[in-house]
Amino acid sequence: MKSEKVSKLCDSIKNSQPMDKNILSKFIAAVATRDVEISAAESWLKAVHKYGISPQDTIALTNQMMNSGSVLTWKENSHLVVDKHSTGGVGDKMSLMLAPALAACGLKVPMLAGRGLGHTGGTIDKLESIPGFNCDLSPQQMQSIVQEIGCCIAAQNDSIAPADGLLYAIRDVTNTIDSIPLITASIISKKAAEGLHSLVLDVKCGTAAFMKTEQDATELAKSMVAVANGLGIKCKAQITAMDNPIGSHIGNSLEVIESIDVLKGKGHLDTRNLVILQGSALLLMSGVVGSSTEGEALIGQVLDDGSALTKFHEMCLQQGVNDEIAHQLCQDPLSVLPLSGQKIDIISQHSGYVNSIDSMALAEIARKHGAGRFSIEDTIIPEVGFIIKKHIGEKIESGQCWMEFYHSRQPTDDEIKQLSRSITVSKDIIDKQSRLIVVVD
Ligand code: URA
Repeated sequence: MKSEKVSKLCDSIKNSQPMDKNILSKFIAAVATRDVEISAAESWLKAVHKYGISPQDTIALTNQMMNSGSVLTWKENSHLVVDKHSTGGVGDKMSLMLAPALAACGLKVPMLAGRGLGHTGGTIDKLESIPGFNCDLSPQQMQSIVQEIGCCIAAQNDSIAPADGLLYAIRDVTNTIDSIPLITASIISKKAAEGLHSLVLDVKCGTAAFMKTEQDATELAKSMVAVANGLGIKCKAQITAMDNPIGSHIGNSLEVIESIDVLKGKGHLDTRNLVILQGSALLLMSGVVGSSTEGEALIGQVLDDGSALTKFHEMCLQQGVNDEIAHQLCQDPLSVLPLSGQKIDIISQHSGYVNSIDSMALAEIARKHGAGRFSIEDTIIPEVGFIIKKHIGEKIESGQCWMEFYHSRQPTDDEIKQLSRSITVSKDIIDKQSRLIVVVD
């Protein structure tokens, strides 16, 4: 594509005028086929980042990006096709439980997920700690697995919204990641390509989230909801607190262990409650239940009666895990999942009630031990992570272990110091706050 055409788009953006939709469509098609000068794409991204674009242009851009690759179509019961997207948190393992739980309720979940980059882990890295689990599915494979069992979780690839792959890579090197229209188009184009009827967005907000303030999280949530609605998808955003880690386990293998516990009707309530919150919203939006209370009860039921775990087992089999491993995984996850043999107990220096746990400090140290990536080529070490033994609001004594650190090498004195300081203990009983801050719809 000629760079002059892209310059025309940039001029419109600078002058706050609508982009020519014909040129926009050709530009995005050229990005998808890599038939565009990188410098022209950089200029366009910088213009969008600097000047912003209107909600209408964001819808048009997202639509073009969605159509730059395969779009799944669902002939029967398309109103039952749903998904969730989270902007990423520490210990955020919801997808592993939500997809099978919703499938157990009769919904269809063709979930695309990412690998982790930054301080938060990726769903795909977590699943890949299961021996044999294959996340590289074609759109046809996704469709047939979902038709057969109701859910799958696949890695984003260049069959779906390929324009996003190049734009995201250029955004990374041009410092244009933090643009609301670009984030919106990137996330919603991939979700829309799943052929969704309903989408729940979990927009994290707090010290360990991409969006630090409620105001920024709300702005992103409103943009994503408006664009999803503009593409005909029912959408709701739940803004949730991301200061303290979610649940009890953090790290790739460890988060699978906690998820299986929750799928058995056990596990940490913080995690279970988030699954119920997101799941009930989708059940209500797709018309399977008539109220949130009914939705909450139904998700609780499939977690408690084993049907969500059965779906998880079926998903493992469909995605390449052999019979014996899948069976053992669901019975006794530790017998098949890697967990580091090197463990250090982190001890409380104070007595009182756990007031806060600094997720960011935990995530950064786990990342240095291989639980996350610094660059896309880095290999994940699945056996690294934390098990939190004392949670927000719980009573703790000085000298008691509040967290186990499963590490890949001997932690430095500085790392141990940082981990010890990552908990605050209060003399007074703490009021436990709900994760949900506000719903945007
Ligand atoms: N995740 C995405 O897929 N795209 C963004 O722009 C940000 C997060």
